[in-house]
This record gives sequence, C-alpha cells and structure tokens, in this order.
Amino acid sequence: MPGHCQILLDRAGGKDYNRRARLEKIAMSSQPKPRILFTRDEIEATVNRLAAEIKKDYPGKSPILIGVLKGSFMFMADLIRLLDFRLEVDFIRLSSYGKGRESSGKIKVVQGLGSEVKGRDVLVIEDIVDTGLTISFLMDYLRKKKPASLKLCALTDKPSRRQTPVTIDYLGFTVPDKFLVGYGLDWDEEFRNLPDICVVE
Ligand code: IMP
Ligand code: MG
Repeated sequence: MPGHCQILLDRAGGKDYNRRARLEKIAMSSQPKPRILFTRDEIEATVNRLAAEIKKDYPGKSPILIGVLKGSFMFMADLIRLLDFRLEVDFIRLSSYGKGRESSGKIKVVQGLGSEVKGRDVLVIEDIVDTGLTISFLMDYLRKKKPASLKLCALTDKPSRRQTPVTIDYLGFTVPDKFLVGYGLDWDEEFRNLPDICVVE
C-alpha cells in the first residue's frame, strides 16, 4: 500500500502532536507496512455471501447479533445492512491481547452485554479467530446464559494458529499465519480505518 502512512500523516495534521509523532515514527520505521490481502471489493462479495447464508437460517426469528469489540465493528455494520429481518444488535468487549501479537490466554469481559440472552437466538460476530482462546471463552460464557441457539460468524479464520477447537458457522476468509490489519482489525490500535484487509510484514 504505497503512501498510506503518508495519507495518515496528512490526515493527522495540526494540533494532535502526540498522535502525529506516533504516526511519523510508524511512517519512518521499518515496522508495519500493510499490503493488501483482500480488497474492499472482495470483502464486499464475501459479506454479501455471508448475509445470504445467514438469511436462510433465521426465517421468522429475531436474533441478537453480538459484535466482539473493537475489531468487528466495521464488518458488523456492513453485514447487518444486508439482513432484512428483525434483529437486535449488542456488543461485548473482551480483553485478551496485550500490546503485542501473542494472546495472553487470560480473557475477561471488559464491557458486558445490555441484553438478556436467555431463550434468544444469538449470533456472535467476530473479526478473526486466531488461537481460538477468545472466542471459546465467549461462546462458553454465552452458552451458560442458556440462549435458544448460539452461532458464530467470523470474517477471518487463521486455523494454523489454533490452540482450542472452534466451530465457525459462517466464515468469510481463511487466512495465512500473518498479522492482519484494516477493515476494523488493528495493529496496536492503528490501521482499523483501512478499507481493505492488509497484511503487516
Ligand atoms: P485469539 O484469542 O487468539 O483467537 O485472538 C482473537 C482476537 O485477537 C481477535 O478478536 C483479534 O482482536 C485479535 N487478533 C488475532 N489475530 C489478529 C490479527 O492478525 N490482526 C489483528 N488482530 C488479531
Ligand atoms: Mg484486536
């Protein structure tokens, strides 16, 4: 992605000197240089396919879609616009990753749900399943609340890194063992705004 750091710099502009300094460091450093893995068009086609699959499975139901913050926000926003049935939206925020890329394995709920899950059809929306530790924790946590049904939709899956088995009911892309950013995914909170899914070298 030539020039994307420059674009971020241009946008950062003016008063926010700390952020600007941070972005300059990123632009200068040899660290993250995102290159496109899936274009916005490929993402759009995949989100369309997922929406069609989901639509087939929820006739006459009004599920709660639970987005896992923060990474799933963009995917969730695009997906639900294509779902033409009654649904509710909620979010949960979990802590798993620290600053680096290794999952600590110790997961906790940082921001809980506002909805009652008991007896409801629940569809979890996740950005990426990596080791699987985060989503396994969440699915167990939700199962204990006795939903009528519980399914998982993940935009990306990195099966080579799995440490615990995970059933993904609706899957967007299977991805290689590379660190992904963009379309909601972050590298230390940066790059969520990239419209394509990129790999950080
Ligand atoms: P897991 O517990 O190892 O499966 O990690 C899941 C969470 O880690 C995801 O919800 C992401 O927030 C984050 N994560 C894992 N891999 C990546 C990546 O390649 N890019 C950005 N975030 C990632
Ligand atoms: Mg993350």
